[in-house]
Amino acid sequence: MVCGKGGTGKTVLTVLMARVFSEKFKAYIVDSDESNVLLPILLGVKAPKPLIEYIGGKRSEEALEKMEPDIARTLSRAREGIRLDLLSEEYVATSRDGIKLVTIGKVREYGEGCACPFNILTRILLGNIRLKDDEIVLVDTDAGIEHIGRRLEEVSDGLIAIIDPTAESIELALLLKKVSQDLGKKFWVIANKVTDDIKDLVMEKASEVGLSVDGIVRFDKEVYLSCLRKEPLKSSIAILDLRKIIEEKMLAERP
Ligand SMILES: Nc1ncnc2c1ncn2[C@@H]1O[C@H](COP(=O)(O)OP(=O)(O)OP(=O)(O)O)[C@@H](O)[C@H]1O
Ligand SMILES: [Mg+2]
Repeated sequence: MVCGKGGTGKTVLTVLMARVFSEKFKAYIVDSDESNVLLPILLGVKAPKPLIEYIGGKRSEEALEKMEPDIARTLSRAREGIRLDLLSEEYVATSRDGIKLVTIGKVREYGEGCACPFNILTRILLGNIRLKDDEIVLVDTDAGIEHIGRRLEEVSDGLIAIIDPTAESIELALLLKKVSQDLGKKFWVIANKVTDDIKDLVMEKASEVGLSVDGIVRFDKEVYLSCLRKEPLKSSIAILDLRKIIEEKMLAERP
């Protein structure tokens, strides 16, 4: 699960990490953010039908919680659990480099209510998923801590906390570290949008609160511009940094 304060770069880094992972694995992205809509564009795909429609649309939290066994059964093709590779095609978009995107659902109408039902559906999906050895799933979460309240961490193998050069993002990463420690999950911290002049200060501020940073992703103008232009994500610098972090820190400790 890719988590962190709003705007730190969760979505961008999810797409870039999926690119790196897709060289060795079948990479899936689960878009669990109920508000932002840029992910498919950055990935270069048409948005797939949201999974919430597969189960008949949005319902109250209580109804969804009660329906968990039914939903899990509906999404499962076989008794073994939910297999992403067997999900109906319209709910999965595939990028040119073979990355597959599954979207949970988006809040689109004023007064539609909170995002909790989407988080519950994500939990049902991840909690019942059955992955093959060559499959890897990255979950792009909504900003902040809503997913903690919905206990999404329990059904993940590990958390990747994204920080940027802000004190708030470091604070939130610290909370995420505690959650992952309490649950016995893997935990990594990536500092994003870091420029040379502030690199030392970011590392110092993180270490002051007991956060060890696994890697730094430099500010990448190509990334910045493709996000502004709403184009498929271009990156040479950030992806280089991520490749190093993935190879040296993540694949070496794969859950
Ligand atoms: N390494 C980077 N270099 C330059 N700009 C970056 C980098 N990473 C992210 N950005 C910029 O930060 C913006 C926010 O990134 P992104 O949408 O991935 O954040 P987020 O954490 O997913 O936000 P939200 O909490 O709203 O979902 C992007 O639109 C892009 O302009
Ligand atoms: Mg995002």
